[in-house]
Amino acid sequence: MNKSKVIDINNITAGYDNHKIALKNINLSIYENDFIGIIGPNGGGKTTLLKVILGLLKPFSGEIKYYSDEKEHFIGYLPQFKLIDEKFPIIVKDVILSGLSSKKSIFKAISKEDNNKLEKIMEEIKITDLKNRAIGSLSGGQLQRVFLARAIISNPKILILDEPNTFVDKKFSSTLYDLLRELNKNMTIILVSHDLGTIPQYVKSIACVNQTLHYHPTSEITEDMIDAYACPLEVLAHGPVPHRIILKHGGNKDD
Ligand SMILES: Nc1ncnc2c1ncn2[C@@H]1O[C@H](COP(=O)(O)OP(=O)(O)OP(=O)(O)O)[C@@H](O)[C@H]1O
Ligand SMILES: [Mg+2]
Repeated sequence: MNKSKVIDINNITAGYDNHKIALKNINLSIYENDFIGIIGPNGGGKTTLLKVILGLLKPFSGEIKYYSDEKEHFIGYLPQFKLIDEKFPIIVKDVILSGLSSKKSIFKAISKEDNNKLEKIMEEIKITDLKNRAIGSLSGGQLQRVFLARAIISNPKILILDEPNTFVDKKFSSTLYDLLRELNKNMTIILVSHDLGTIPQYVKSIACVNQTLHYHPTSEITEDMIDAYACPLEVLAHGPVPHRIILKHGGNKDD
């Protein structure tokens, strides 16, 4: 059975200030149940690509097509790094619930159904005890969990995560990956990560973004990505890369 396409990115060039190019001639087709890991150096354009997909940044040229009937909860997004003002007067549960609808006022009484979703997700991500805390008082990792809960509470068709494990500890990192694997059964996932030692075990394909994009339909990180695909060594040096996942040119295990 053919998988259905959910997003088609056609020859996108995008950037900032009307002329500063961050992405050049990008092509990528995203299908149902894909789990794409996006890797690349700092400043390579990963976040920019996500912003284009989310419609937050209008590309200079090219087009992007969405295949969906429901617009509202089509994409869930966990942004990279978020700085929150300590005095920002909003508590954890309201942040998570705001992921359910952009239209609903956070001051409205919540339905029993929404409350059940909230409790379930807080339990899963182990933040139940933070429920009534002001978000400005949370640690980086706690905040990242809260925003993860916000991104997935609406059960979106596509989940986009921009370096979700920058702040979280090792233990939660593996909980996170297990959760993503479970969600991937009925959700398309796009994950930006520098955690190259781990993501090949979870993702189904890899896109290397460094102004241009090179798509690899398998999850192995190969020498090709380092040499030919402008994914420089320092990218791989970000994390401990188990030797066995680095493949030789022809795809043979290098051990
Ligand atoms: N708002 C902005 N205005 C101008 N230039 C920007 C803006 N945001 C990003 N850039 C530039 O665009 C390029 C791509 O940035 P982007 O944030 O997409 O990189 P990234 O791959 O996500 O990097 P990192 O791994 O550090 O998160 C960089 O040169 C960056 O300086
Ligand atoms: Mg980024």
